[in-house]
Amino acid sequence: MSEVRVHNFSISLDGFGTGEGQALDAPFGHAGERLHEWFVGTRFFHAMDDLPGGTLGADNAFAEEHNPGIGAEIMGAGKFGPPGWQDDPDWKGWWGPNPPYHTPVFVLTHRPRPSIEMEGGTTFHFLDTTPAEALAQARTAADGADVRIGGGPTVVRNYLAEGLIDYAHIAVVPILLGRGVRLWDNLESLNHTYNIESVSTPTGITHLTFTKNQ
Ligand SMILES: NC(=O)c1ccc[n+]([C@@H]2O[C@H](COP(=O)([O-])OP(=O)(O)OC[C@H]3O[C@@H](n4cnc5c(N)ncnc54)[C@H](OP(=O)(O)O)[C@@H]3O)[C@@H](O)[C@H]2O)c1
Repeated sequence: MSEVRVHNFSISLDGFGTGEGQALDAPFGHAGERLHEWFVGTRFFHAMDDLPGGTLGADNAFAEEHNPGIGAEIMGAGKFGPPGWQDDPDWKGWWGPNPPYHTPVFVLTHRPRPSIEMEGGTTFHFLDTTPAEALAQARTAADGADVRIGGGPTVVRNYLAEGLIDYAHIAVVPILLGRGVRLWDNLESLNHTYNIESVSTPTGITHLTFTKNQ
């Protein structure tokens, strides 16, 4: 059976996966870029943007796990666009004509629309259904490869709560946000169902890995 994975999902010390006040000019609200500075500095991220350079240290080793073996992504409406994107029939996501997914992407939304085929192999499909049913569709589309749960925090939390995630890499960034959307609420059962490891890198990021008990 293919696996369901989370990679490079970043949270603050107080557990927020995004800030308050998400908007077109502030995709992470008042968090700004602070949750992702470690990630965008890596060689992996630079290479996605065809940029030279980027760090090759331990953070990059985690970052590079993002794509190999992934055949589809599931994301929430809050990752696909700013609040109200459903009112814009031309909205096609943040990422331009050639999004960095190159697989089918299933966007969970209560206001679905027809699928959008982008350049480079990404097709956005819009689903109003349960997490389990969306996963079933993503698995079929992934054709034996793994499925990534891409965020935001609401969707990752929902998939963790339903026990649908096999492996999650969460990067804890040493900042306090105080407000936004929290990841961890009502997930205390994870202590029993996952093997949890952590390692800190010299940049100050603590990488947590959750591996589901067999
Ligand atoms: N920290 C990270 O690494 C990371 C990664 C990715 C994204 N983000 C950020 O996270 C933020 C978005 O996160 P979020 O928690 O606000 O939202 P989200 O998890 O992206 O999406 C939640 C929304 O998706 C829709 N939805 C979820 N489950 C559904 C279901 N089963 N059926 C139908 N619709 C469903 C609902 O929207 P509707 O009711 O409006 O349709 C719900 O409000 C953004 O700021 C984004 O930039 C952070």
